[in-house]
Amino acid sequence: MAKEKLIVFDTTMRDGEQSPGASMTKEEKLRIARQLERMRVDVIEAGFPAASDGDFDAVRAVASIIKDSTVCGLARANEKDIRRCGEAVRVAKRPRVHTFIATSPIHMEKKLRMEPSQVIEQAVRAVGWARGYTDNVEFSPEDAGRSDIDFLCRILERVIKAGATTINIPDTVGYTLPEHFGKLIRTLRERIPGSDKVVWSVHCHNDLGLAVANSLAAVLNGARQVECTVNGLGERAGNAALEEIVMAVRTRQDMFPCDTDVDATQIVPASRLVSGITGFPVQPNKAIVGANAFAHESGIHQDGVIKSRETYEIMRAEDVGWNANRLVLGKHSGRNAFRQRLTELGIVLESEEALNAAFKRFKDLADKKHEIFDEDLHALITEENLEHAVDEHYRLVSLIAHSETGESPYARIVVTENGRERKAEAKGSGPVDASFKALEAVAKSGAELLLYSVNNITTGTDAQGEVTVRLSKGGRIVNGQGADTDIVVASAKAYINALNKLHSRLERVNPQV
Ligand code: KIV
Ligand code: ZN
Repeated sequence: MAKEKLIVFDTTMRDGEQSPGASMTKEEKLRIARQLERMRVDVIEAGFPAASDGDFDAVRAVASIIKDSTVCGLARANEKDIRRCGEAVRVAKRPRVHTFIATSPIHMEKKLRMEPSQVIEQAVRAVGWARGYTDNVEFSPEDAGRSDIDFLCRILERVIKAGATTINIPDTVGYTLPEHFGKLIRTLRERIPGSDKVVWSVHCHNDLGLAVANSLAAVLNGARQVECTVNGLGERAGNAALEEIVMAVRTRQDMFPCDTDVDATQIVPASRLVSGITGFPVQPNKAIVGANAFAHESGIHQDGVIKSRETYEIMRAEDVGWNANRLVLGKHSGRNAFRQRLTELGIVLESEEALNAAFKRFKDLADKKHEIFDEDLHALITEENLEHAVDEHYRLVSLIAHSETGESPYARIVVTENGRERKAEAKGSGPVDASFKALEAVAKSGAELLLYSVNNITTGTDAQGEVTVRLSKGGRIVNGQGADTDIVVASAKAYINALNKLHSRLERVNPQV
């Protein structure tokens, strides 16, 4: 019997972006959107257009280049948000407006300060406004996992009559358990008149580590759209991980009456791209995309796999895109080869000047590292864009870091601050610590360092280290990134990038607040 289709709705660029420090520039969103389209994701939620002019522009830019996937924007259930969202997505070949309002007693009473009957009327009006822009309208009763089921039936019956075509059930706070959540979806589908006219969707958060399990329970009970993010990125403990949903459904076709259209070989490249852009590293033991996900350490396992791979492997690493790490370019590669590989990776540089600058970086890197992989190119472009995305208040000129056994490590740093050269030196517990202290001696930001992490972009000791530095100051959290074959230099670049972000005061609004 032919399988039904499970729609994959990716919200990496909306809910994923709401993780503290994970905000993306327009150009970064375009690169992620192209990769999602290449992976054959059905719906791309590109942002929250009413949040800021920057978000509006980014959603509109994604809407104008993506042809195969539906492009969706999020809007609260008010006319202004929906107008901004409708205007941002209307240029898409397949636009969708996603509107939401909270339905749990605690949210209605404490957050919205509205009576349940007012919430229903507002939801119905919102769907009507959204239908003015597109006939593809999604409605979400926020915090459905803690909402009263009779109330959910009342409001959802009304929004379906008003023209919503997808009904999404969010477990906003990650509170539900698989059995309960599956039953909720089944009951709503059974009780609500007109439920067969809409697609039922779920959106699960991972506070109890159950986002994927809850989503799959919902699919077994009739949900045919799953909202998820690459690497499970998202608020607090994150959202359901796209790669886990897709591979669970595909690997256990004996259990599921449906399958997705996702090209799974694009999963690892997507994971690396999102991790590189957001600076959120992937834990080594993360399912599907973690570095150890397919590594067999114990002798018994290795022996089994050598004799017959299926003894310990339920999926093949190459099927999810491992080993797609192709050698592409080297020291002698020319500008045309460089340009062509960027185009193949979906990276479009806006001008010849941008191409020249990127090519220069490539040549500098090729001098230090013989083999340049796709991941290196992504990191190189990310870095090039980072410098242009924020005002470069601070810029690294030079760095000397010294470490010697038995001696105190120290660093000497030269940076420009608003164009003026500044120098500082400091001692530290290691060369990275000393470099950060020297930078602070210049910047005096007083920011708190929340996270420092280093990841190798490719394998080998000549690999570039990609560093993330997360700083917090006055309630704002920013992530800075830097990449270099020298990790002390990469660390200084990441610290400077974070300082520039703090300085540029890029603010974001969280739609659920
Ligand atoms: O978690 C949530 O409730 C959401 C909605 C806006 C769908 O992200
Ligand atoms: Zn959410």
